[in-house]
Amino acid sequence: MFLVDSHCHIDSLDFTDIHQDVKDVLTKAHLAGVTHFLCAGTELETFEQMYNMIAPFEEVFAACAMHPENVNAQNINWSEKQMKTYLQMPRVIALGETGLDYICTPETKDLQKKSFERQIAIANELQKPLIIHARGAIYDCIDMIYALEARDNGGVMHCFCDDIDAARKALDLGYYISFSGIVTFKNAKNVQESCKYVPVDRMLVETDCPYLAPVPKRGKPNEPAFVSYTAKFIADLKGISYDELCTKTSKNFEELFKVTLK
Ligand code: NI
Repeated sequence: MFLVDSHCHIDSLDFTDIHQDVKDVLTKAHLAGVTHFLCAGTELETFEQMYNMIAPFEEVFAACAMHPENVNAQNINWSEKQMKTYLQMPRVIALGETGLDYICTPETKDLQKKSFERQIAIANELQKPLIIHARGAIYDCIDMIYALEARDNGGVMHCFCDDIDAARKALDLGYYISFSGIVTFKNAKNVQESCKYVPVDRMLVETDCPYLAPVPKRGKPNEPAFVSYTAKFIADLKGISYDELCTKTSKNFEELFKVTLK
């Protein structure tokens, strides 16, 4: 049985006090039944460093993109050539995480849109699925994906935090919806409602570590092993077995990212 952490930031984990190295992180995850990982990129500058960290481990995939929070007036003309080169590296299976964030960085809204538009065009050209970070901006993200005719490559709304209406529109778009540890939080009732609404065959699970550790690890630094808590919580919420949740979300991962897990 497989269980995939479909979105993590292994390169942002604490290798000073908490973990020895990447191997140590993956070993802990494997002991918790977590078999595969997708390490999401957040900027071009650090991509190679991230890629080199995960490269020795064949169960770890990568994605490359400019994160909306990292876009600014200085780097807005980031190199398309560079991004395309990275996206064609063997373990890079998606363009992400990209999107729009109107909550953390509303001041760069226009720059974010420009950057997102360029990334959608690249995803179209290279036929890569998109990993979308949308905060207070999911409808704008959906509108842009329609407008730029990027539906066919597929994609995922990562760390979904919106309500059922937004979930419905993302599903209509043909997207998958990925739930993080937030769904386990007591006060996240609307995310739980969305999770009940989203069919298991359109769902992924993730940690987004080192952020957002699920209950019972809430408040502690997050790591890929903890996606098992989120998966367990969702299985209970949906009234299905843990095995079924793991099997279906792994199959979804394979379908979306066109990979075969082994
Ligand atoms: Ni992330």
